[in-house]
Amino acid sequence: MCGIVGVLGRGPVAGPIVDALKRLEYRGYDSAGVATLENGRLERRRAEGKLKNLEAKLAAEPLAGAIGIGHTRWATHGKPTVANAHPHASPRLAVVHNGIIENFKALREELAAKGYHFATETDSEIAAFAVEDELARGKTPEQAVHAALGRLRGAFALVYLFAGEDDLLIGARQGAPLAIGYGDGEMFLGSDALALAPFTDRISYLEEGDWAVVTREGADIRDRDGKRVKRRIQRSPPGSLLAEKGNYRHFMAKEIHEQPEVVGHTLAHYVDMAAMRLKPFAWPVDPTKLARVTIVACGTAYMAGLTAKYWIERFARLPVEIDVASEYRYREAPVDDGGLTIVVSQSGETADTLASLRYVKERGSKTVGVVNVPDSSVARLTDVLAPTLAGPEIGVASTKAFTCQLAALAALAIGLGKARGTIDEAAEATLVGELIATPGLLAEALKLEPAAEKLAQAVARARDVLYLGRGTSYPLALEGALKLKELSYIHAEGYAAGELKHGPIALIDEAMPVIVIAPRDAVFEKVVSNMQEVAARGGRIVLIGEKRAAEEAAVTIEHFLAMPDMSANFAPIVYAAPIQMLAYHTAVIMGKDADQPRNLAKSVTVE
Ligand code: G6P
Repeated sequence: MCGIVGVLGRGPVAGPIVDALKRLEYRGYDSAGVATLENGRLERRRAEGKLKNLEAKLAAEPLAGAIGIGHTRWATHGKPTVANAHPHASPRLAVVHNGIIENFKALREELAAKGYHFATETDSEIAAFAVEDELARGKTPEQAVHAALGRLRGAFALVYLFAGEDDLLIGARQGAPLAIGYGDGEMFLGSDALALAPFTDRISYLEEGDWAVVTREGADIRDRDGKRVKRRIQRSPPGSLLAEKGNYRHFMAKEIHEQPEVVGHTLAHYVDMAAMRLKPFAWPVDPTKLARVTIVACGTAYMAGLTAKYWIERFARLPVEIDVASEYRYREAPVDDGGLTIVVSQSGETADTLASLRYVKERGSKTVGVVNVPDSSVARLTDVLAPTLAGPEIGVASTKAFTCQLAALAALAIGLGKARGTIDEAAEATLVGELIATPGLLAEALKLEPAAEKLAQAVARARDVLYLGRGTSYPLALEGALKLKELSYIHAEGYAAGELKHGPIALIDEAMPVIVIAPRDAVFEKVVSNMQEVAARGGRIVLIGEKRAAEEAAVTIEHFLAMPDMSANFAPIVYAAPIQMLAYHTAVIMGKDADQPRNLAKSVTVE
């Protein structure tokens, strides 16, 4: 994982590097570091923990160099100590690395046998010494990096800085993203365009196996064989990538409240609002020929995919197979040649999702990518991109990207039904009407914030929390539990309400809140029965449902979040709001960092 940056500047670069790292902190924040050249000499500043610690160190011991590299880390090999923090250095160079070098043990032994000494347990340090070893044979930096890259196996992105070379950075991409930013007499490298947004709007992306020799004049890009290649310079619209907290205390709060707007934007991409129909979608396969659909994703994106299973099976009468990408990629799943796989990913860089995408493509499946970052690896590899227009999501716990994924997937499910003739035009118009009502309903649901905050006071005192839901509320119960545990570190489980009696009912007591997600849908009565089972055992019930649901449940309810009345098909898009606000406020009340929960990272680019 990790975020990497390189800057060839016209003045001191340590400050701009730290600013860029702030925009990459979503990739990890276990430690951070900067290296610059001070009169040709390599100097490093590194600190454990978040970037503010590195900033403090730089304030105490400033760096003045006009060329440098920086890193924010999500630890894989070695603890998040200062010694293990990047940039790593050998006598003649420093390097920042994102990813994993798989053959580092063998290389380490080989290099140790030659007399090199290592200061860390990390795989990244080997990326420094592999080049050092080539330089020792008299090669130029360029030749040395090219030769060393041939010895490194794994998925990684690297940026090298060389002692005495104040107009040279060398970057490489092999399985992890790296972008180049073109400035005016300045050049930049970074893990994504967001990191480079304040410096330049002219960006090119390295492709697999590419490496680039970058000077203040520009970038000379080579492919794996060392052949010169051109990669298109794209312009990102000014300001489109910049993310600010505005008046909110956390990005997460801001992103929760942006949902009516961004879900609306996303829907506008798929729906002709005036005609109440779907816009045409370029399916990469004929939907009438499909025997099933496969969906693969990780984390919250998986929960969106699981919800889509209910929609696609209901509207398009197509069986859906869904799995988390880390399982899917290794379980030797049979793939339908000419079939359809939908991958769902906010970042488009999640390593397991990307590997699953490659797996199905190699076996002949056509692919649709529901992706939020348009230039990401998944977006570029997939046959057809189904974008979510959530804008940059900075909070590590996904919120607005999730509801936008649900919105896009709902539109795709209706579209599949339409294409297969399982829903007619009238049904399409009804469903589209229900779907385009969700942004307004989300705005209504967000008004429950004071009630969610009050409930959070109670939840913050709990040791365990159980979330129950049926039908499309089941994935949301899983998502509710995931959100709460990742933000507040309270143990939480999501369960299909009907499974309650097969185990979790044994946990019901007077201490554990049981949060029941119960929109008025076809299984509402069944959920009421499940609530009664909880009540009969003295359980503490929290109900999230429509206004009349509390009366109809006819049980004692400790907290009730009264949701707006709505037709139930797309309830998860709206019911996501209270579960997100509950997790957010619980974390804030408990003094946890809602934007950057411990041990997590936003974009998991290692498997
Ligand atoms: C991490 C993030 C989650 C996200 C998941 C999948 O776990 O913390 O918020 O849902 O990765 O990420 P993706 O970018 O593929 O949606």
